[in-house]
Parts: sequence; C-alpha cells; structure tokens
Amino acid sequence: TAPVIVAPSLLAADFANLQSELASIETAPWVHLDVMDGRFVPNISFGMPVIKALRPHSKAFFDAHLMVEDADPHLKAVADAGADQITVHVEGNWHLNRTLQVIKELGCRAGVALCPATPVEALSEIMGMVDSILVMTVNPGFGGQKFMPAQLPKIRRIARMAAQQKAADGHEVIVGVDGGVNPATTALVTDAGARMLVAGSAVFGHPDRAAAINALEGAAMP
Ligand code: DX5
Ligand code: ZN
Repeated sequence: TAPVIVAPSLLAADFANLQSELASIETAPWVHLDVMDGRFVPNISFGMPVIKALRPHSKAFFDAHLMVEDADPHLKAVADAGADQITVHVEGNWHLNRTLQVIKELGCRAGVALCPATPVEALSEIMGMVDSILVMTVNPGFGGQKFMPAQLPKIRRIARMAAQQKAADGHEVIVGVDGGVNPATTALVTDAGARMLVAGSAVFGHPDRAAAINALEGAAMP
C-alpha cells in the first residue's frame, strides 16, 4: 500500500508567525489550509490573501479546505491564490457536480469533505470526479477537538468505494481524515483505509514538527 500523506493544518499554527510555521513543516508533502466563513461553521479563520502570501514560501501541495456556505463565488480566487487542490463540503454546496467541474476547469484537483452526520451515499454520484475525499472525524470549525470513533466504519466504506473506483476505471481517489488525528487515532483511521492525515494540534502542538510528522507516518498501519 501507498505510504500515508501527512497534511499539517495551519489552523493550529502561530498566526503571528505563519512564514516560520510553514517552514517548520517542510518535511510534510501537503499543507492543509482551513478557510472558514463564520456561517457554514461557527468560526472565521483566514482566507485567500493569506494562502496567496504563503504560496511562495512552500513547495508543498496546498489543499484548501473550504468550510464555507456556497463555495462557488470563491473558487477562482482560491485557485489564483495557489491552491493545488480545493476541497469543498458535500453540505452547503447546492450543485456539487458543477462546483467540482469548475474546480477541475480551474486546473486544481477536486476534493470533497463530509461532516460526521453525512452518510457515504452522498458520494455515490461523484466518485468518478473527485481526487480526494475528506472524512471529518470532528464537527468542523475548530482545532483540538476529540476524534469521533463512530466515523471509522464510514472511512472503511469510503476506502472500499475508492478501491472499486480504481478497479473500474483506474481513477485514484485519496481517502483522508480530518479532526483529532494523533498517533493513536492514526492507527485506527489507517487501518480503516485512510491514506491522508490532516493534523493540526498533533503537529503544531509539538515543539519538533518533523518528529511529530514522523510519528504520524510511523503510526500508520500498512
Ligand atoms: C477543523 C479543521 C481541521 C482542524 C484539525 O474544522 O477542518 O483541519 O485544523 O485540527 P486538529 O488536528 O487539532 O483536530
Ligand atoms: Zn480541515
């Protein structure tokens, strides 16, 4: 099996020192950027100007996780800011098929995220058009929340759907997890089939970020 991708979430970084915080996670292949609008989730984080300012300071793959109601008016600005992938929620986007199509047309990879209450069935008609699926293992909006083990069967089912998709047409869908990821929960989610790990507090709460990233990689089940 492919190695896991660790995607540190900058939401847990020191916002007064974002450039050095970004440099501290240079061993991670992906960077996870949580954009929040205060409506889809009860919190406001940062937006496209911040992503744009960070872009020249990292070679990593930028995944912008849009926790916003109706992402459509913002997609171009997110792509222009330098996102390699745009992850939109299954919830809050009325015409998800069109939204994903627009993301592709903008030259980005297309990701979808599912809140804990959303069933896997919401994915059945879009499996062929997404590059990654992000299973939320907390209710989105804040870092540092407790992992929800009840989401494990869902991860397992989505990993199976992704394997079926690959067998059918060769299209690869990366299954990721976001919320409460630490070395202990990494063992559970990777055993269930997750291959991409978003981690905020587990990386930035650790003084040695490279060691924290290593610890997550090392905790992954093959
Ligand atoms: C939560 C965000 C997450 C968050 C994860 O709404 O989508 O990406 O930063 O934080 P931790 O890893 O601390 O649970
Ligand atoms: Zn996120």
